[in-house]
Amino acid sequence: MVASPHLALAHAYWKSHLRPGDLAIDATCGNGHDTCALAKLLLGHSESLLLSFDIQTAALENAEALLQSSVPKEFLPRVLFQRRCHSEIDQIPLPHFPKLIVYNLGYLPGGDKSITTQSITTLTSLQKAAKLLEERGALSVTCYPGHPEGKREEEAVVEWAKSLPSEQWHVCHHQWINRSAAPSLLWIFKHLLPASERR
Ligand SMILES: C[S@@+](CC[C@H](N)C(=O)[O-])C[C@H]1O[C@@H](n2cnc3c(N)ncnc32)[C@H](O)[C@@H]1O
Repeated sequence: MVASPHLALAHAYWKSHLRPGDLAIDATCGNGHDTCALAKLLLGHSESLLLSFDIQTAALENAEALLQSSVPKEFLPRVLFQRRCHSEIDQIPLPHFPKLIVYNLGYLPGGDKSITTQSITTLTSLQKAAKLLEERGALSVTCYPGHPEGKREEEAVVEWAKSLPSEQWHVCHHQWINRSAAPSLLWIFKHLLPASERR
């Protein structure tokens, strides 16, 4: 179990949602802890696929090293690291639709704090991710309002999530209300595709 309550809750959602054989995307790879947690949930099926995005080479190198020491080596080819902005999430050809897309927003722990996710590209990515998801797929978004861009970003993500039609989406925002500027978690579940997008 991970120590921080927001991450523990996110991981519990992922565990109940993902099955081996699914396709998942980590939109903010960072040092790779989430990528490794997702990889462990997908192990054991030849069709599992995990894509992991980050704009920083150092993050992807750290994540790749962590993954190599955490999962059996035969699973490594099922994890594709992408050095690109997650606003380009729709630019990668996929064999099937993702079941889960994860965002752990903010800056790289132990890295340059000025390189942080930005509201504009995060929203662009989320809008595309929402379209990409399979029916009964989900978005998991962890926000960090303890720094100025993180606060703006949380507000923008929550506004966007509130606007999703309830006939197609279940949206839940978890907040730790006895701690100021605590991280929060959005779980956004696509329960029904619009008729025009049924596959
Ligand atoms: C809080 S960290 C993620 C932590 C990570 N999931 C883990 O388990 O270690 C946020 C990461 O998002 C990355 N990032 C910032 N802007 C990005 C963007 N536009 N596209 C993809 N990644 C981005 C940062 O480089 C940073 O590594």
